[in-house]
This record gives sequence, C-alpha cells and structure tokens, in this order.
Amino acid sequence: MKLLALETSCDETAFAILEDGERVLANLVASQEELHRRYGGIVPELASRKHMELILPLAYETLEKAGTLLTQIEAVAVTNGPGLIGSLVIGVSFAKALSFAQKIPLLAVDHINAHFLAAFLEEKKPPFPFLALVVSGGHTALFLVEDYLKFYLLGQTRDDAAGEAFDKVAKLLGLGYPGGRIISRLAEKGDPQSIPLPRPLLDKENFDFSFSGLKTAVVNFVKGLKKKGLPIPVHDLCASFEAAVVEVLVTKTLKALSVTRVQDLVIAGGVAANKRLRKEFQEAAQKMGFRLFLPRPEFCTDNAAMVGVAGYQKWLRGEFAGLDLDVYARSQFPRYK
Ligand code: KG4
Ligand code: ZN
Repeated sequence: MKLLALETSCDETAFAILEDGERVLANLVASQEELHRRYGGIVPELASRKHMELILPLAYETLEKAGTLLTQIEAVAVTNGPGLIGSLVIGVSFAKALSFAQKIPLLAVDHINAHFLAAFLEEKKPPFPFLALVVSGGHTALFLVEDYLKFYLLGQTRDDAAGEAFDKVAKLLGLGYPGGRIISRLAEKGDPQSIPLPRPLLDKENFDFSFSGLKTAVVNFVKGLKKKGLPIPVHDLCASFEAAVVEVLVTKTLKALSVTRVQDLVIAGGVAANKRLRKEFQEAAQKMGFRLFLPRPEFCTDNAAMVGVAGYQKWLRGEFAGLDLDVYARSQFPRYK
C-alpha cells in the first residue's frame, strides 16, 4: 500500500511516500530557513506563500524519487495541526484536492503524534506502552503512549518550548536562525559548567517544564557583562545553556519513567537532534536499564515520513477525514491520571 504524506505546519514544506506504513520510498524536505533568517524567526505570512510556491514541484519530485506514479498512491496523509494556521491551510487544501481528484482517502494527522511515531521509521521499533518526550520548536511534552493513536499527556512546558528557548537565546546572542543547531555547534567548544544557570522546575513533583526563566537568566548574564564592558564568552554560554536544558529534560523524563514504571522511551522533535541530549539519554539508558528509541536526526526535525506513519494507522482503522477537514493551532491532549 503506497501512501503520500505531506507536512506544512511550520517553515518546512515536506513530502514522503511510504509503503505499508514503514518503508520510506522518498522523504523530501524543503526548508525555508534562508527566507526567514534575515528576520531572526519565522514570518507566518511569508511561510504560507513559500509553501504555496514549493508544494506542487516538491510533490512531483517526491513521486519521481520514489519511482511511483500518482495513480499508484492509495491515500494521502496531511498534518492539520498544531501549527501556523496559514501554513497548515496550504497543505490541507493540497491534500483535499488530491483526495478528491484521485478518489483516495484523506487522513488527518496531529503533528505531535507524528513526531513520536517517527520512532517506527527505524528498524528497532518501540513496544507499547512507551513514554515519549517530544521536544521541538513549538512543544515540550511528555506522553504515555498506549497505542499509535492513543496517548496521554503527563506534562508539558508552561511557557517556552525547549527549541524556542534555543532559538531565542541564539537571537539574543546575534547567532542567527534557527538557533538550536548553531548553539549546539558552538557549545562543543565551550565548558558546560562554566556559567551557573538555573534548572527550572527540576525539584517539583510534576512533569511540567519551564524554559523562559532560563532564557531570562541568559539575558541578565549578558546584560551584566555588557554593562561592565566585558566580552561575552559565547562558547561557554552556549555550552552552559545547552547543559541546563538537557539536564532538565533528562531528569524529568527519568522521573516519569520511574513513576509510570514504563521501560521504553522515545525521544522526538527537532531538539532530539541535539548531540548532547542524545548522548545523555543514551548514557542514562545504559545506567538505568531502560530501552531508548531515538529516531535519526532527519526524522526528529520536521518531515513528512513521520506523518505517513500516523496516517497509515488511521488508514488501517478506516479513520478517514472529510473534505470539510479543518486546521488547528493548538492540540488538546487527554491527561494521564
Ligand atoms: O520539530 P521541529 O523541526 O519543528 C517544530 O515542530 O517546531 O523543531 C524545530 C526546533 C527549533 O527550535 C530548532 O532550533 C530545534 O528544533 N533544533 C535543535 C537542534 N536542531 C533543531 N535544538 C537543539 N539542538 C539541535 N541540534
Ligand atoms: Zn515539529
């Protein structure tokens, strides 16, 4: 069964073709980084327009790469939220048109759901139930996942997402956009213990996160140095900031594993591409004896292959969307009790 998946929730236009829900025949991502860089962040209006420009050529390119004819595609899966409304609308409209013209089912996929299902794109697949930590530019959340499409929220960020904090700190330091990758590269040459930064909510008995205080601590540190006319130790600051974010994510997640007594952990979302985060989770898994499922970096950052995995599960269950399918900016997930 061949399925076409697409993703336009943010600033990546992405297409994939999957066979039987797990074999990736093609996975293409057209990033808009270049376009938004000069503004230091995503400009939603520009993102929508760029999606519109890229979507059709990228669809053809994906079919060609997969050696697949449009007539061989049996279903179309699309992200309909959460994300930027104007961007989502482009992808959803495209998918509706394709569904209508080809008379194939339309499958609506939640972007966060898709992120942690990226783990199924790898050879070694996680068994249910597992815990999922989704760390991206828009989300930082922990879930107990009972089945592909059935999962419960344990906790999430009260303010900034982890990736958002990376992006904001990078902007503050004038390092460019998107911040995560740049900070993590600079951090490699810095000392993660050199600058004391807070670890927000670390000692709280819940699974919520908060990163805006950490960002403010970086702002204040930089202001203090500037006032004294001192240079900013960029490498050390990046390393210390990254270490603080990673420590909070690892500690909270380990606590959730112990409280829920779950033995399997999936980490996904753009920040899961971070080397330090991957290394610390790998070390923790060895020490504590839980199994870790880390999708390769290209399946962590936004892509359509992960959308295909979720879409295929909907297809198996006959959960088809109508042509009146709407988009949404935020997800409401049921809570873990
Ligand atoms: O999942 P994603 O591609 O898009 C959203 O759904 O938001 O995540 C993008 C986020 C950005 O904030 C970016 O700075 C961050 O992931 N990111 C990283 C790394 N690569 C991407 N953060 C830290 N280290 C990285 N290597
Ligand atoms: Zn994402």
